[in-house]
Amino acid sequence: MSGHGTPIPMTSRRSGPLKGVAEVPGDKSISHRSLILGALAIGETQITGLLEGEDVIDTAKAMRAFGAEVTDHGGGEWSVRGVGVGGFQEPDNVIDCGNSGTGVRLIMGVMATQPITATFTGDASLNKRPMARVTDPLELFGTQAVGREGGRLPMTLVGAADPVPVRYEVPVPSAQVKSAVLLAGLNAPGKTVVIEKEATRDHSERMLAGFGAEITVEDTDEGRVITLTGQPELKPQIIAVPRDPSSAAFPVCAALVTPGSDVLVPGIGLNPTRAGLFTTLRDMGADLTYENEREEGGEPVADLRAKFSPNMKGIEVPPERAASMIDEYPVLSVVAAFATGTTMMAGVKELRVKESDRIDAMARGLRANGVTVEEGADWWSVEGLGPDGVPGGATCESFLDHRIAMSFMVMGMGAQEPVSVDDGSPIATSFPIFEPLMSSLGAQIVRSNT
Ligand code: S3P
Repeated sequence: MSGHGTPIPMTSRRSGPLKGVAEVPGDKSISHRSLILGALAIGETQITGLLEGEDVIDTAKAMRAFGAEVTDHGGGEWSVRGVGVGGFQEPDNVIDCGNSGTGVRLIMGVMATQPITATFTGDASLNKRPMARVTDPLELFGTQAVGREGGRLPMTLVGAADPVPVRYEVPVPSAQVKSAVLLAGLNAPGKTVVIEKEATRDHSERMLAGFGAEITVEDTDEGRVITLTGQPELKPQIIAVPRDPSSAAFPVCAALVTPGSDVLVPGIGLNPTRAGLFTTLRDMGADLTYENEREEGGEPVADLRAKFSPNMKGIEVPPERAASMIDEYPVLSVVAAFATGTTMMAGVKELRVKESDRIDAMARGLRANGVTVEEGADWWSVEGLGPDGVPGGATCESFLDHRIAMSFMVMGMGAQEPVSVDDGSPIATSFPIFEPLMSSLGAQIVRSNT
């Protein structure tokens, strides 16, 4: 089982105003998909702006293990020479996806309908996460999966030699499950249909269409019905990965809670399946504006300007918005602590099965730092203490979860006393330049727990 090496304790303390431009790295979801679909095309896909975080690097290594030629040209430029749909070779060794649920679930989907066997593992966090949500639908194609108790990694999949297309209604709002089924459907003859009741991020659908697959999406009374025709020849693409709204969330929220701040976060994708946090912050009264709104690569993009916002109010976040901001609830709960009144977040059961149980992880750290949190199975609420009212002063566990570590670093920037995390090393999975970038804006983050 891999880990993240030696723990890196970190402390964030109240700094002066955060000022400047925060150029956040490429989108994690789109980076994984670029490498995976590039590996399935015939010819060379060229990628710029790839997120070079540990999660995506693990996916690049996995694509090499399955036979694709993946080359790092430096500075976020990568190329992938693919093997074609159905052309994966059997890997010689166990595939280690590190911390990445997206990596392992999407890759399992791709290999599930090819006549090869592969064994998957991950770090202590990934090996606790549920995989049956993916292997249940993959078994409908004819795949066999054997894992540990409760459908956990390490797990071996024997791909279906004669896959059949499936019709599958996704029981939980999960883009990873949806994508795994679609990617498996790529090598099944005929039409694979995936139905989702709530719209989740649609990068797989957009990118499959971009690579030349026949894919349609219909909004019906049943939900979003996605139909993919199997066994296409995918054509290589030139992909410019947009900057990640989930990473932008950290400098944006840091500016909102740090007195005097004014930060510009340029070129952020505002795809409606991803932008729920920014809508929510504006509903709370945040001074967050969209500048230079434009379209890039078929996606709405804007430069975000965030300023210190001492008058934010707690709100009830609409549960139907959850899928479009699912990774942003940890940092939202920090902002909520600096608002006035209660912020209620309901319909968020999925937070309990992320890199950590994110409701539990945030509730523990917030409480230790003097913030009142209530929680139930699928909801939680945070009592705001106002812009100057968060005591801080405690060390929080990050539970091998990058977003928990970064959220508490944001809290330390506005709290009365410094806030520490026991281990910031997981930040490298999604935002390897977090510390230098935040420091360049004026944040005070140090690698120690004092
Ligand atoms: C992702 C989907 C989401 C999200 C994850 C990335 C993706 O997970 O939390 O960080 O790229 O498809 P779920 O599909 O489990 O909701």
